[in-house]
Amino acid sequence: MPIQHLCTIVDKTPLGADTYWMQLECGDMVEQTFQAPGQFIHIACPPHFLRRPISVATCQSDTPDDGVSIVFQVRGEGTRWLAERSEGETLDVLGLLGNGFAMDPVGRYLLAGGGIGVPPLYGCAQYAGGRAVAVLGFRSQAQVIMPQLFADACENVFLCTDDGSLGFHGFVHQKVEEILCKDRDFTAVLACGPKLMLRGVAEVAAKYGLPCQVSMEERMACGVGACLGCAIPMADGTMKHVCKDGPVFDASEVDWNG
Ligand SMILES: Cc1cc2nc3c(=O)[nH]c(=O)nc-3n(C[C@H](O)[C@H](O)[C@H](O)COP(=O)(O)OP(=O)(O)OC[C@H]3O[C@@H](n4cnc5c(N)ncnc54)[C@H](O)[C@@H]3O)c2cc1C
Ligand code: FES
Repeated sequence: MPIQHLCTIVDKTPLGADTYWMQLECGDMVEQTFQAPGQFIHIACPPHFLRRPISVATCQSDTPDDGVSIVFQVRGEGTRWLAERSEGETLDVLGLLGNGFAMDPVGRYLLAGGGIGVPPLYGCAQYAGGRAVAVLGFRSQAQVIMPQLFADACENVFLCTDDGSLGFHGFVHQKVEEILCKDRDFTAVLACGPKLMLRGVAEVAAKYGLPCQVSMEERMACGVGACLGCAIPMADGTMKHVCKDGPVFDASEVDWNG
């Protein structure tokens, strides 16, 4: 069962244009509800009626308060309101929600992230205890976030930019394929980012015979499976809730044309 808690903002740090790192004190939310890296929290952003879902970048059980860190980009009024909050203020948070990535603690993972889909993969890198290679894609150098955190948590990090202003000039799935050509010794590929990127990564993973899990984004209302706000079509013709059944799905389950 998710917990609703008034979380105190203990750190808010700008990471770049309109993107923020925020650390929250969350009572015993992590201890009670952590399942796996890739879960999310649902944040009330008054006066907006609907909460806004933001992925957990990293979290830890602690005394007297658990810690949850998020990274978010200002997209509209809700995230603008969030960006205007200050350290010491409280947020009404529901969490931790969703399933997260199914990870073997002794596995080795290829992490593929795009844009604001990058933050939850940081928790995956930490969970993998360094046995991870990360491919992180951004539109250009100005949008790159968390490169040092990933460098510290991974075996290797490859940055990609669409315009070639930093690192590999091209898309994440192209770099993933370049890596898998030489090294297929991964337990799975874990991906989070725009749907087109996820589809490309899923196709490359399938080509090289590797399991692939993708974190899907959908607009949400309740966040706990009680409405139909976040339903997406699956390959077998059924619908699933991104909030409750996901946000992480096996790539082979997803209807990529839906
Ligand atoms: C499981 C999950 C995890 C997420 N994790 C993060 C995260 O770690 N960091 C982060 O910055 N954002 C994340 N998002 C996206 C974030 O929830 C939206 O950007 C936010 O809800 C927009 O709210 P708003 O009021 O600022 O914008 P709105 O005014 O509601 O919308 C502004 C723009 O954002 C788009 N948008 C709104 N909701 C979503 C959504 N759910 N997915 C994609 N686009 C959306 C709208 O289409 C519109 O173009 C996540 C979404 C989901 C579903
Ligand atoms: S947001 Fe209500 S069911 Fe997912």
